[in-house]
Amino acid sequence: AVLARQLATAAVSLDELRQHMAAFEGCNLKATAKNLVFADGNPQAAVMLVGEAPGRDEDIEGLPFVGRSGRLLDRMLAAIGLDRGSVYIANVIPWRPPGNRTPTPHETEICRPFIERQIELVNPKVLINLGGPSAKTLLNTSEGILRLRGNWRLHTTASGIAIPAMPTLHPAYLLRTPAHKKLAWRDFLEVKAKLRALS
Ligand code: URA
Repeated sequence: AVLARQLATAAVSLDELRQHMAAFEGCNLKATAKNLVFADGNPQAAVMLVGEAPGRDEDIEGLPFVGRSGRLLDRMLAAIGLDRGSVYIANVIPWRPPGNRTPTPHETEICRPFIERQIELVNPKVLINLGGPSAKTLLNTSEGILRLRGNWRLHTTASGIAIPAMPTLHPAYLLRTPAHKKLAWRDFLEVKAKLRALS
């Protein structure tokens, strides 16, 4: 089997990466998913958000964060003056796990080269990691999200570029734990301040 890393590295554009992922047969999740969920938003954006894995609505539409979590995410983005035309959104895992179960560490490892290459090709000024799995997979840490959130980290690409990354709480978690929305709100204000400082 061709390894994800080889396919990912060989892609020199987002279009090519999407094609290579669609042709990839090394992840069992593809067999039960309806669609590849590649990304949404603006590939030129300064801000890239990375979630965990598609849910039911995302699987049907082939786009990330279009269900209930996505509607909350859109409101969080609007609060700092952003929308899908000014951010780029993807997930660590591009296929829906059956019944929305948590992706296994094995599935995450298999898919990791694809999201890493996607970040490298978009080359955002700032990354936002939505939830623990995204933060753990891309920020080289095993710390829990409640400890990680609110503190800038670095995501280092294969070519050695370090991108400031803000880990924050996942919108699906916030729907279950609305008392923590104020924490995510603080994190998004940090992102807004960073963007202002960088521009
Ligand atoms: N949750 C995620 O992490 N990603 C989606 O695309 C939708 C829900």
